[in-house]
Amino acid sequence: MMSAIQPPPHRGRLTAGMLLGLAFLAGAAQADDGASIEAGREASQSCAACHGAQGNSPTPAFPSLAGQPARYLVSQLKAYRGGKRENAIMNAQAANLSDQQIRDLAAYYAAQRREVADPADAGSESGAILYAHGREGVPACAACHGVGGHGNRPAGFPALRGLPSAYVVQSLTDFRDGKRAFGQGGLMLPIAAELSDEDIQALAAHIATLD
Ligand code: HEC
Ligand code: HEC
Repeated sequence: MMSAIQPPPHRGRLTAGMLLGLAFLAGAAQADDGASIEAGREASQSCAACHGAQGNSPTPAFPSLAGQPARYLVSQLKAYRGGKRENAIMNAQAANLSDQQIRDLAAYYAAQRREVADPADAGSESGAILYAHGREGVPACAACHGVGGHGNRPAGFPALRGLPSAYVVQSLTDFRDGKRAFGQGGLMLPIAAELSDEDIQALAAHIATLD
């Protein structure tokens, strides 16, 4: 049965795909939007104190950046730079970044492996249910962010696993208050508008257990 429905002559296409993959690996420093992972690595030295050497934050005070979709990181850095996303520390950090530096930093962090410490959190049953299934007026978070919180790279939806719960509470509250209304944040606004404070706490507690 299986072989009957598998079309055999895929060899050519696979080879082309593999060559593309190899070309990407070999020329790793050059992403398709002209971003340089190597330049991003150098520029990231000024970010490492807070976000960790490879974008895995050493403390819950700062969100990890490793493995986030480049498109998401570019959008957030431009929003900090232009003041659309308000945070005193990050507004200052992004103020003097050029578009090219932003693309390079985003390419670098997107290429890093996200590491998540063993969850110490007890989690939340109601948070887990809301995350996985949603409810009337609230689509399942898993639909966009993935069951395990890995995000969706082609769509540019951020990974949530490993995000500190205080940061998740802050982010969801900001969406609810309309403070992160730029770019794809528009997708989160109607969702967050339906969340109570208790929902937000429960979701953050569940997200903290995603490994
Ligand atoms: C002094 C500490 C500090 C430094 C240095 C720093 N950041 Fe941040 N960063 C933060 C904090 C705090 C937040 C959370 C801000 C918020 O709540 O909006 C953050 C958030 C971010 C976010 C948003 C993450 C998300 O999931 O939406 C990005 C992207 C980011 N930083 C990139 C950078 C880059 C790139 C640099 C270096 C050029 C840098 N940061 C330097 C503290 C820092
Ligand atoms: C339709 C798709 C979609 C659904 C469903 C969705 N999200 Fe999101 N979420 C997004 C997008 C897109 C962003 C990035 C917003 C931006 O660009 O500012 C985001 C951002 C976030 C962030 C900020 C991440 C960061 O690093 O700052 C959190 C936290 C979050 N979502 C939690 C949730 C939770 C909890 C749910 C379920 C109640 C949920 N999302 C449902 C699309 C979605």
